[in-house]
Amino acid sequence: MISRRKKIAVFASGFGSNFQAINDYIKNKGINGYIGLLFSNNPGAYALQRAEKDNIATYALDPKDFNDRKEYDQEIAKVLKKENIDIIVLAGYMLLFTPGLVNLFKNRIINIHPSLLPAFKGTQGIKDAYDYGVKVTGVTVHFVDAELDHGPIILQKEVAVNDSYSLKDLEERIHQVEHDLYPKAVEYLCSDRLQIKGRKVIIREKEV
Ligand code: GRF
Repeated sequence: MISRRKKIAVFASGFGSNFQAINDYIKNKGINGYIGLLFSNNPGAYALQRAEKDNIATYALDPKDFNDRKEYDQEIAKVLKKENIDIIVLAGYMLLFTPGLVNLFKNRIINIHPSLLPAFKGTQGIKDAYDYGVKVTGVTVHFVDAELDHGPIILQKEVAVNDSYSLKDLEERIHQVEHDLYPKAVEYLCSDRLQIKGRKVIIREKEV
């Protein structure tokens, strides 16, 4: 039995192309969830404009206006509670959640990272892989725990690095794959198809 529709908060710090891909997928295909909120730590994020265009509620809080990250995340927790958020989708959110916020949404926060984790963690996953000279890199969607780019892996997809690729070519290819992969992971999570067993995530068959 599929549960009630999940209310999703997407967190983005910048361009928001992954937010857009998820939003388009939900609008075109329909899943057991909807984006009820776009949150940003950056009041100038283009992602906020994308959400506004679709009449999705937006919320921007600048960490500089808070004493520390704990206080900042406590304020975020209040917003999420007030909005009755079920699931958090990090899509280019450039801050690490404090453990308190991670625990509050345990196994209900997912992130996308532009490399095949555990390789090339951090903010420059595409460039780091390219500079390293790897022949294959890719995209990872994973649950979020308190460690950077670390939680159990939901989906991964490889991307071959052709010898002719510039860094920009690789970035474009990675983003295409992200936009294909991330909405599917959101769909699985919303329909309770993901089961975490230690570090492994089992994707259950769709109910018919
Ligand atoms: C993506 O490459 C994602 O993997 C990383 O940040 C980037 C966000 O891009 N975490 P966008 O803002 O969704 O366009």
